[in-house]
Amino acid sequence: MDTILVRGGRRLHGKVSISGAKNAALPIMAASLLSDGEVVLSNIPDLDDVSTMCDVLEALGVRVRRAGSRLLFRADNLEENEAPYPLIRKMRASFLVAGPLLARLGAVRIPLPGGCAIGLRPIDLHLKGFMAMGAEIRQDGGVIEAVAPRGLHGARVYLDVPSVGATENILMASCFASGETIIENAAREPEVVDLANFLVRMGADIRGAGTSAIRVTGVSRLSGVAYEIIPDRIEAGTYMIACAIAGGDVFIRNAVPEHIRAIAAKLAEVGVRVIEADGGVRVIADKRPAPTDITTTAYPGFPTDLQPQMMALLSVAAGTSVITETVFEGRFMHVAELKRMGARIRTENQTAIIEGVGELSGARVRVPDLRAGAALVLAGLRAEGETEISDVHHIDRGYESIEAKLRAIGADIERVSDGVSVSRIAQVL
Ligand code: EPZ
Repeated sequence: MDTILVRGGRRLHGKVSISGAKNAALPIMAASLLSDGEVVLSNIPDLDDVSTMCDVLEALGVRVRRAGSRLLFRADNLEENEAPYPLIRKMRASFLVAGPLLARLGAVRIPLPGGCAIGLRPIDLHLKGFMAMGAEIRQDGGVIEAVAPRGLHGARVYLDVPSVGATENILMASCFASGETIIENAAREPEVVDLANFLVRMGADIRGAGTSAIRVTGVSRLSGVAYEIIPDRIEAGTYMIACAIAGGDVFIRNAVPEHIRAIAAKLAEVGVRVIEADGGVRVIADKRPAPTDITTTAYPGFPTDLQPQMMALLSVAAGTSVITETVFEGRFMHVAELKRMGARIRTENQTAIIEGVGELSGARVRVPDLRAGAALVLAGLRAEGETEISDVHHIDRGYESIEAKLRAIGADIERVSDGVSVSRIAQVL
């Protein structure tokens, strides 16, 4: 099992390039199931979750090929409508194949995705949408079976919460439905818009993506297409906060300014300068951050996926901050680990009160989930001494070469695999 060692105290300088968005790539890869031609995706990040989605699609009969930094998919002879249990358990985003399979084959058998470190993560809204469009849903032994023998029909679906996954699954299911589907209180995330843009490029009739009301008129088929995934706003925000916590002057190449407005605004509140430039954003941090309060909400609010990273930053702020997590009920797994590094945090239900300290101290910590892992790396950049981070496989699910990207802008960080420093080998080769 790999560990990451971080020795704090280095300011960051230079340029870091943002990879393609994990949370756009995963639904768009699932949507390739709807195409009767070849789909060529570029700017796909090299992540464990992307590999897992490739495995799921191949298990369903999709031919997947890598060509450099592109992925090619052919779904013209699907053999299977049952997604394999081990892969669904490994990554809940695999559930995003349900909508396309139901639309394409009229039936899908898929294991209920489990909860994870950040919450129960139900799928009731996904199923509500499928049923509204005429699917019959049965559940036996932890497997969901959805069938629509007469095909799906358009429907008006109200989402009780603006669920990203439910919006995406219902959007994909509605592409071939007879008539019009309206998704109300739809998620507005840029990744939903990227999926809709991809589907439209394949020939889908979709209007209103990015607003809370998306309208889809079913079509008979969707063709192959070449498409480039948007940059990852959560990765961009993570490196912006890395500069804020370590201090320095970093240019985040490929960051899309309109996708990171909430994080830019919060960093400005704590005294960090964020300057939009062509092709990205420049972040300058030269003093101890001031405290601030944060409430996570659906886009365009402050993203829950940057809440742990901001908590790390606010742990060294010159005052007390309050973070309220309204999206997931269990997304404070990083608190205990940050406290091992000297942070002063107490939680009450969905609220964390962070009393800023002058310094954090390096410690041995374990990664409980993907974004908590990023937060621990960032805390290590600031902590005195060495932080040894284990269970880094969680981080590899969502960050491409995090230690290489941070080392390239001056961080003292390395990955150790079976006792051997992988990073040093990479430098020598
Ligand atoms: C997506 O997860 C992202 N994952 C998450 O990123 C992100 O945190 C989340 O959206 C919120 O922005 C991918 O896109 C692959 P939701 P998703 O459905 O779709 C409740 C990361 O770190 N809900 O928007 O699973 C749910 O319990 C990951 O990259 C229902 O009640 O999130 C939660 O409280 C973590 N019923 C809220 O909605 C449902 O049927 C938001 O969940 C579905 C969701």
